Amino acid sequence: MKLLRTEGLSKHFGGVAAVEDLSLDVDEGEIFGLIGPNGSGKTTALNMLSGFLAPDRGRVFFADEEVTDATPVALARRGLLRMFQTTRVFSRISAFDNLLTAGLARGLTEFEAGERARALLEELTLAPVMYLDAGQLSGGQRKLLEFGMCFIAPPRIALLDEPFAAVHPVMRETMAGFIRRRNAAGHTFLVVSHDMPIVVELCHRTACMNAGRLIALGPTRDVLQDRAVIEAYLGSDAHA
Ligand SMILES: Nc1ncnc2c1ncn2[C@@H]1O[C@H](COP(=O)(O)OP(=O)(O)OP(=O)(O)O)[C@@H](O)[C@H]1O
Ligand SMILES: [Mg+2]
Repeated sequence: MKLLRTEGLSKHFGGVAAVEDLSLDVDEGEIFGLIGPNGSGKTTALNMLSGFLAPDRGRVFFADEEVTDATPVALARRGLLRMFQTTRVFSRISAFDNLLTAGLARGLTEFEAGERARALLEELTLAPVMYLDAGQLSGGQRKLLEFGMCFIAPPRIALLDEPFAAVHPVMRETMAGFIRRRNAAGHTFLVVSHDMPIVVELCHRTACMNAGRLIALGPTRDVLQDRAVIEAYLGSDAHA
């Protein structure tokens, strides 16, 4: 089944076509990559898919229902959750309490939230720092904590915006393993990343955007070898 689908999504900011006529679909159970040079429209696309930004034109469907005008909260309730390019955790409370808070906010009992929080801290290698204020954790650890908060009540699809950026390679591997295991358990992911080795390793299919437009979509290796994709990354010099 197509879990998430867009038809002709467009968003302009003043004279800039941040996203232009974007149509793509994510299958249930896949890890779908979204790549493209800086400023190509990836975050704007995620904002429209997750209800944070209203498109100028086009439609979004989740599990075959139109959700173009749905709010982020309504989408999260249905199982579509978004992680941001910048980490969003509460820095003045502990890692454990961040997870507890996320669990309660998603309707778990305190007991359930506590149990799941402990298991996630263990899996994400955060158990040794679980009682430190989140503000004292490294950038990578905060990112891992955010993964935990996202998965305390597992979404059907998680939209991740550059989760691996500026993260230590060991934690990057922890994140990739976490995504792989959740995917093996049936969860779907849409991952925006500039980290091509991880994209190749994780993503079944990948879409590439350039200047707001979709320029390639298919099996990840094919997309990375696509001439238009290589040229987009090299910039206009590639034509010289
Ligand atoms: N709120 C906004 N107001 C005006 N212009 C914006 C806004 N958000 C994005 N843009 C512009 O839209 C275009 C696409 O930006 P977007 O952030 O979606 O790109 P991106 O692919 O996520 O880039 P990056 O890889 O750097 O994160 C850029 O030209 C950007 O400057
Ligand atoms: Mg972005």
